[in-house]
Amino acid sequence: GRAILVHVCDKQHAGQAEDSLRELEELARTAGVEVVDTVLQVRDRVDPRYALGRGKLEDVVIRAMQLDAETLIFDRDLRPAQANSIARMTDLKVVDRTQLILDIFAQHAESSDGKLQVELAQMKYLLPRLGQRDDALSRLTGGIGGRGPGETKLEVGRRRARERITRLNSRLKQLGRQREQRRSRRKRRGTPTVAIVGYTNAGKSTLLNALTGSDVIAEDKLFATLDTRSRSLRLPSAREVIVTDTVGFIRDLPKDLFAAFRATFDETQDADLLLHVVDASDPCRSEHLETTDKLLLDLRLERIPRIVVFNKCDQLDAPQPTLASRGVPISALDPSTLGPLRDAIEERMEVSHPLLSADEPTSSQPA
Ligand code: GTP
Repeated sequence: GRAILVHVCDKQHAGQAEDSLRELEELARTAGVEVVDTVLQVRDRVDPRYALGRGKLEDVVIRAMQLDAETLIFDRDLRPAQANSIARMTDLKVVDRTQLILDIFAQHAESSDGKLQVELAQMKYLLPRLGQRDDALSRLTGGIGGRGPGETKLEVGRRRARERITRLNSRLKQLGRQREQRRSRRKRRGTPTVAIVGYTNAGKSTLLNALTGSDVIAEDKLFATLDTRSRSLRLPSAREVIVTDTVGFIRDLPKDLFAAFRATFDETQDADLLLHVVDASDPCRSEHLETTDKLLLDLRLERIPRIVVFNKCDQLDAPQPTLASRGVPISALDPSTLGPLRDAIEERMEVSHPLLSADEPTSSQPA
């Protein structure tokens, strides 16, 4: 559908507004939404009821009618009561940033695990909002002391949602146990693993393909990868490592989604090395680096050795020699640039999993 994007913030956050709107535009495009206009309002404080000022919201609603838009997408998380008040002012569909990200995840989840995790996050998002609507409907249909049909229906809806959440949680626990078994089998085999992490759209899947000669989907869309994929890579020394792609990070990742997707990083806990991929050509690359560092800390992955990989160097306006002192510059689309990265991986592997030479004693052959 056609949508107007709305960013509202207080004066302290005005500096990040443009970048944030640009990211929201990318998210909307990924979700298949046509953006017909963007609105930015800086206020002393975000309005507790409508987020925007009431007058500004009325203007936006008129603008939406003129542009034939059917959706307002807010670049922030709306509290259930806020979404409700805005929805009462207009017939337009009101979507917030969390909902937009949830929609994208729902479109992209492929494995049963991924689908269940997204559904769980969606149900958790929906539950408090069902409560809000319940309040409005019971006032409309309930009468004095009575129970309106709308309320009953919504109570049933809420109970079903809670039951579904319980079922999803137990199914996910079961899948988690299976993952754990796979993980310990892999650990027993002793093949070292390298996990590719980084901000969404940094080029993680492209790098996995380029390193391992595989054809995992890589798209110019945010969150193209929702299910972790592993491929085998043979290094120049003939050493074999497993390389794993992971879900992309984004700032202010919705809380429920973060909780659900934490599980997809379970296997990453055992990684011997992280390749932290950064889109070097993105003007917000420092923020992306910071966001990823913070999320790695939240995921307790900060203790794993890390190589920072500056990708998309072919898109830099001018060469940036300082990048090489902070990481390994590459262009995942050009395999001829990957030599130094392979060498850096090899070097780290030599420390964590030294190759035994033929004349070296093994533990079963005491010297
Ligand atoms: P998510 O799945 O969203 O987390 O993305 P990702 O990090 O896996 O990125 P992906 O590999 O899907 O690449 C995103 C886009 O960047 C694609 O259109 C790629 O073709 C493009 N891309 C990746 N590497 C490079 C590069 O080195 N140079 C240029 N110019 N584009 C690249």
